[in-house]
Amino acid sequence: MKRRLGVNIDHIATIRESRKVSYPDPFEALTILKSCQVDQVTIHLREDRRHIQDHDLKRICDANILPVNLEMAVTKEMLEIASQQKPSHITFVPEKREEVTTEGGLDCVTYIDNVTDAVSRMQACGIHVSLFIDPDYRQIAAAKESGADAIEIHTGTYCNVLEDFYVQNGHYDYSEDTVFQARLNQEITKIQESAKMASEAKLKVYAGHGLHVDNIQAIANITQIEEYNIGHALIARAVFVGLKQAITEIQMMLRGDL
Ligand code: PXP
Repeated sequence: MKRRLGVNIDHIATIRESRKVSYPDPFEALTILKSCQVDQVTIHLREDRRHIQDHDLKRICDANILPVNLEMAVTKEMLEIASQQKPSHITFVPEKREEVTTEGGLDCVTYIDNVTDAVSRMQACGIHVSLFIDPDYRQIAAAKESGADAIEIHTGTYCNVLEDFYVQNGHYDYSEDTVFQARLNQEITKIQESAKMASEAKLKVYAGHGLHVDNIQAIANITQIEEYNIGHALIARAVFVGLKQAITEIQMMLRGDL
C-alpha cells in the first residue's frame, strides 16, 4: 500500500508570528509540497491563532493546490469556519491554550455526543473526518461509534520515549539497551494493536506527532497505517537542507528506500 504524506506547515507560520511580520509565508511552501508530490497540506487553526491565521486558511483552501487537512478543536467557532472554508479533510484534535503542542489525543469517550455531532456536521459538508486519538481501544471504539471516517493515532508518547534516550545518550542507537527496548516496544505494540483494531472496525488509520527520519521506521512498518502527518521535524530539517530535501528523506523512509 502506498503511504500518503501530509506535511504540516504550521511551524513556518510559527517563525513568522514570532516577529509578527509577513515572512516566511506558509503559502509559499505549497508549490514545493506539490513538486515533491506530497499528498496533502496539513494546518492547525488554533483557537489562540499562535501560528496559522484565518487568512492563511482561506488562501490555502482557495488556491486549491493540494488537498487541505485542517486540524481543529471541536468548537462552535471552528465548525463554522470549516463549514465556510470546506477543506477536503478535517482532523479533530484536543486543544489546551497552555500546551506547547497537541499533547494528547482527543477524549472521544467522554465527549462522544459533541464529537458525533461535529463529525456528522462536517460530513454533511462533504468533508472527510478523522479523529486524533491516543492508541487506546476505548478511544477507537468511541471513534467508530461517532461515525468518523478515520483515526489518526497520536505517536507522541512513542516519540518521547526515544527522545528521552537521545537526551541521555546523544544518539538514537538503543540496540544494546534492553530495558529501553522493552519500554519502546510497549509503545510500539500499543500503536500496532490500535492500528489493527481500527482497521478491522473499517476505520482508515493515520499516524502523526513527533515523527522524524530516526523514529519513523517502526511506525512505517505498521501495514494498516496509510497516512502520516509530519510537521516540526520537516521544518527543523529544512533549516539545514531545504524543505524539498527534508520531504524527500521522509518519503524515502516511507517507501523503505533509506
Ligand atoms: N498530526 C496532528 C493531529 C497534530 O496535531 C500534529 C501537530 O500539529 C501533527 C500531526 C504533526 O506533529 P509534528 O509537528 O510533531 O510532526
